[in-house]
Amino acid sequence: MSLGLVQAAYIVSALLFIMSLAGLSKHETAKAGCWYGIVGMTIALVATIFGPATEGQFWIIIAMIIGAILGIHRALKVEMTEMPELVAMLHSFVGLAAVLVGFNSFGLHIQPEFVAPEGMTFTSPEALETAKATFLAEQEVLANIHNVEVFLGIFIGAVTFTGSIVAFGKLRGIINSKALMLPHRHKLNLAALVVSALLMVAFLNSPENIFPVLLMTAIALAFGWHLVASIGGADMPVVVSMLNSYSGWAAAAAGFMLNNDLLIVTGALVGSSGAILSYIMCKAMNRSFISVIAGGFGNDVVASSDEEQGEHRETTAEEVAELLKNASSVIITPGYGMAVAQAQYPVADITAKLRERGINVRFGIHPVAGRLPGHMNVLLAEAKVPYDVVLEMDEINEDFPDTDVVLVIGANDTVNPAALDDPNSPIAGMPVLEVWKAQNVIVFKRSMAVGYAGVQNPLFFKENTQMLFGDAKERVEDILKAL
Ligand code: TAP
Repeated sequence: MSLGLVQAAYIVSALLFIMSLAGLSKHETAKAGCWYGIVGMTIALVATIFGPATEGQFWIIIAMIIGAILGIHRALKVEMTEMPELVAMLHSFVGLAAVLVGFNSFGLHIQPEFVAPEGMTFTSPEALETAKATFLAEQEVLANIHNVEVFLGIFIGAVTFTGSIVAFGKLRGIINSKALMLPHRHKLNLAALVVSALLMVAFLNSPENIFPVLLMTAIALAFGWHLVASIGGADMPVVVSMLNSYSGWAAAAAGFMLNNDLLIVTGALVGSSGAILSYIMCKAMNRSFISVIAGGFGNDVVASSDEEQGEHRETTAEEVAELLKNASSVIITPGYGMAVAQAQYPVADITAKLRERGINVRFGIHPVAGRLPGHMNVLLAEAKVPYDVVLEMDEINEDFPDTDVVLVIGANDTVNPAALDDPNSPIAGMPVLEVWKAQNVIVFKRSMAVGYAGVQNPLFFKENTQMLFGDAKERVEDILKAL
């Protein structure tokens, strides 16, 4: 494949990636968005593998087949609730790849010999010397740029690698989700950055010496680990999208090192869309980006303990069915428990049934409900709930006072009034779905256990709240039968 054809293929791929992102931003076009991405990536891979800059196609294809088998196996097996872990793990691969590309590119800037441009003659030996000197100076600048790329690529890659591993461990529950609060942690982070900057200067001064790069790699690995370890459980949504962004920048850095324009464009797309997502997440949780990165959210204040705060009332599926029959407006607020129970299908059936009876049924989706951005939207779309009844928190929060029944299906932190009422709560300040303002609130969960942030929920003890204990799917099916 000629270089021209490869460049053309890269432009087509880049356009398809942009169309893919645009498509993914709306329910209706999300499927098409996926396809644009798949086609774009296929074109990019074919153009890269068979392009003039690539050798050893046989081994690349073997590696791809092995990778594809592993990838397809994981993707088929992964539960929706494990998706953030999978994403975190994949981010760590991008980080590791950037580190490996960096070490592979170390010292690879081969200085070409000076050759006088064709047709150019030098009138004097001095003119030839000047041309040579200019050429050498240019080469030095290029070598410096290459070395900066190598250094930054390895740094970003190493931070992404260990940061993603810690995020994976926290999401999977292998690593404690509480924030690690080392003494002087901010100073430690700052020191890591300053020492790395000094190492870069040392490296640029003697680029043949690999020691500063090795030392920086060790520091960056520890820095990435510490950065994510010191972020508390409730901030994990932001961390996942932040690592998404880092993995994009790591890929872009690899693109610079490999002189691959498409990798630069793709990395920048992922990096900036991840940054925008992190910003949206921070806004949704009323947190500043800096304070998330600085870590320790929820650990400086006294956690409102998980002890119970009064009496709670229990109800049965039959009673809830009766309540629903007599309601004229119903809002369903799903959370992580709906995903665990896979209750979205009977929930969709109940929605259809109630709507047939002329009852206004809508969904209120909190931006961080579940365990990954858009988690609830994906589940509801999967169960074919019409898009127009699925509303964002901001669109529906004012309607709760005029609502007869709210069904809180496996949600906890996202409907916790303590976020607004209790300044000492670890989730204080996070906007929540104000479900308690409705006439009746039914909470579907298996026990009085706390949610992800580890705080008890005063909603469960309010007078207009009733608990419907058990697996969310089974209870929703019971209601469906009673209806
Ligand atoms: P959570 O606060 O996580 O609470 C989920 C509730 O579901 C639990 O209290 C649990 O109670 C219940 N549950 C679990 N399995 C169930 C089942 N089979 N049937 C019925 N109930 C079940 O949920 P949320 O309101 O969706 O909040 C999400 C939390 O996750 C937030 O703190 C958010 O910050 C965090 N987070 C979000 C993300 C993103 S990006 N969305 C990423 C990481 C973390 P029982 O055990 O008593 O049943």
